[in-house]
Amino acid sequence: MGNTVIVGTQWGDEGKGKIVDLLSEHADYVVRFQGGNNAGHTMVVNGKEIISHLIPSGIIQQKKCFIGNGVVVDPFVLLEEIDYLLSNNIDASPDLLKISNRAHLILPYHRLIDSAREAKKGDKKIGTTGRGIGPCYEDKATRRGIRFCDLLDIELFKDKVRTIVEEKNFYLERYFKTDTINPELIIDQILQIKDKLIPYIADVSVILFDGIQDNKTILFEGAQGTHLDIEHGTYPFVTSSSVVAGNAANGSGVGPCNLNEIIGIVKAYTTRVGAGPFATELFDEIGAEIQKTGSEFGATTGRKRRCGWLDMVVLKNAARLNSLTGLVITKLDVLDDLDEIKICTAYEYNGKQISDFPPEIKVLENCTPVYESHPGWKQDISGITDFNDLPENAKRYLARVEELSGVKIKIVSVGPGREATIIKESIFN
Ligand code: GDP
Ligand code: IMO
Ligand code: MG
Repeated sequence: MGNTVIVGTQWGDEGKGKIVDLLSEHADYVVRFQGGNNAGHTMVVNGKEIISHLIPSGIIQQKKCFIGNGVVVDPFVLLEEIDYLLSNNIDASPDLLKISNRAHLILPYHRLIDSAREAKKGDKKIGTTGRGIGPCYEDKATRRGIRFCDLLDIELFKDKVRTIVEEKNFYLERYFKTDTINPELIIDQILQIKDKLIPYIADVSVILFDGIQDNKTILFEGAQGTHLDIEHGTYPFVTSSSVVAGNAANGSGVGPCNLNEIIGIVKAYTTRVGAGPFATELFDEIGAEIQKTGSEFGATTGRKRRCGWLDMVVLKNAARLNSLTGLVITKLDVLDDLDEIKICTAYEYNGKQISDFPPEIKVLENCTPVYESHPGWKQDISGITDFNDLPENAKRYLARVEELSGVKIKIVSVGPGREATIIKESIFN
């Protein structure tokens, strides 16, 4: 049984939360390593829906959960989420949850800048979640960020807030021509919650290292998806962190040799929220049907998700970038009623076929998908739990995905609930 990384292979919302919750049973520790509360991970257990934005989904199975150094944490959202979980009888006390002392804080000015920047961009906006993610990672990179360890030295914290807000206010007032922010208000708000936060702060890297020595199994919960990665995604229509499996090590302070299995979560079709190129997007009634049947609304912002066919250029890119050792196909049930299901096998650009994901937005926008067509199975598969019971056409579709991606399918998900799952090959032996 090895340490397992769960990553999204497309543009997020592949169903990572459901699979992390499912696999948590076999793990000792569950760790978030990047992103922040731009994520929205949905779990349905005994018919009850729980959405987590920051706290690892392993909390539902009451596993020890960790927010790694690579995550950006809005402390107010964190406390709200702890209360929300508690109101659902899920304990997220410091016994079960630790936050890296090196994780950066999202503070109110990050959110203000995120929305002011998007508003100024008008038509050219990225369509961010408005949670201050990008501005917080910017401060980290420019070495002005405020980390959880800074809360342990409150005079230093106050000093840092006052210094940075002076600069932020100049930018907000002069460049964006919006309201400024009073640093003393931020300091007061943080002073009010500081004592609640402190028991959660720990050296996560050290705890994980000790756990590994003690043969504990770690599940790493990725957020977003490979094509939202700051390095490899559809830049600039991406998030501000590296979401690929390699960052599971860096973002949690664990050495890379400790990553054993890398599982890519693949929605049986493709969705995207926010702006940016999406070659297989459907603008017709089939796209609308998938959106409706799949309830494709963002778990964080409630926005309608754009829908389209499965794209193997995207999946092969994800297989290479993440060294995927297995796939989980989710939401296969959403395709139940379709007569025909398409898979994009390559792109056509300027009269030539390409199979490597291009970096240029203009090229991506002008790529035409090359499709192959598969007959639908026209059967409700949502109650199936044995792979052999799947309709032949569904098995053929899955076999083709394996063949084209070169990666074995380990699990097939056929409904939002934990029980609506077909284990094809065990990940945790
Ligand atoms: P994440 O961000 O990758 O965790 O995914 P989200 O939770 O944002 O979006 C996935 C949505 O699909 C959630 O509403 C899940 O409850 C739902 N879901 C997950 N797996 C399945 C499945 O196999 N079938 C159906 N119908 N819904 C699923
Ligand atoms: P999960 O973990 C889908 C998208 C936003 C926007 C872009 C940048 O639930 O799969 P940001 O706020 O990160 O600066 O926004 O990234 N985005 C997601 N899309 N699922 C997510 O997370 C996302 N997190 C960010 O819609 O296009
Ligand atoms: Mg989501």
